[in-house]
Amino acid sequence: MIPDAVPAVRLRGVYQAYGSRTVLRNIDLDVASHEVVALIGPSGCGKSTLLRTVNLLEDVVAGSIELNGENITAPKTNKNRVRQQVGLVFQQFNLFPHLTVLENITLAPRRVARKSKVDADRRAMELLERFGLADKADEYPDRLSGGQQQRVAIIRSLATEPTVILLDEVTSALDPETVGEVLALIAELKNLGLTLILATHEMAFARTVADRIVFMHEGEIVEQGPPSQVLDAPTVDRTRRFVDQILSHDVAAVTAQEQL
Ligand SMILES: Nc1ncnc2c1ncn2[C@@H]1O[C@H](COP(=O)(O)OP(=O)(O)OP(=O)(O)O)[C@@H](O)[C@H]1O
Ligand SMILES: [Mg+2]
Repeated sequence: MIPDAVPAVRLRGVYQAYGSRTVLRNIDLDVASHEVVALIGPSGCGKSTLLRTVNLLEDVVAGSIELNGENITAPKTNKNRVRQQVGLVFQQFNLFPHLTVLENITLAPRRVARKSKVDADRRAMELLERFGLADKADEYPDRLSGGQQQRVAIIRSLATEPTVILLDEVTSALDPETVGEVLALIAELKNLGLTLILATHEMAFARTVADRIVFMHEGEIVEQGPPSQVLDAPTVDRTRRFVDQILSHDVAAVTAQEQL
């Protein structure tokens, strides 16, 4: 197989700041086409900021981001066009409560991509059918479970036919019973050949779905590699402390559950 020379996403020397506070420092990251990268690290280390920056919700302070070889941090970039190619899904689904599932999914294709209602509806129904939610097309979000709402939010991000999907803690707001259905959907996105960058606190999920794990601390990438290396044999002390802490927390949570 000939490797793709052009990464789906390439960050070079990216700095990001909120006011005087620098939150991303000199980030270099290449994500290959069809690769799944999980960002892990302590709260506040910059995972969400990195995803928001790739989606152009924040302007970089320095450095550049390329999407499939195109510099999307160039001043004249059409951000709406980029966002059709890069889906972003949040922890709190952010579905519009006054729109049905179908209307939520077709909003961007119709408004931004200027698709006809017929074409947008057809594509949305195909997606809903593929992911087992066709019977919910005419429901309003508050009639769906949390897991169903999050699946709709993910499906909505697919409606503009993106090549890259960014997922920010998409299982954190869900009941434990519904997490599985969202994880299954994400695994399916991987099988469809999308490029995924996800931020997560769930190490078991990261281990299963990710090709590569990137550990961040205080706005910097500290260590990265396959899950077996970063999670089981980290080479940097800061990574080891984080992983030990998370794993001991997981053990404590399981023990507490068993005692209930
Ligand atoms: N809108 C904002 N205005 C000012 N500071 C912000 C803003 N959003 C984030 N920050 C700060 O930027 C830093 C990075 O935050 P970010 O949300 O990217 O972290 P994170 O790794 O996603 O954390 P978590 O695991 O809690 O989601 C933090 O110090 C945070 O307080
Ligand atoms: Mg975050």
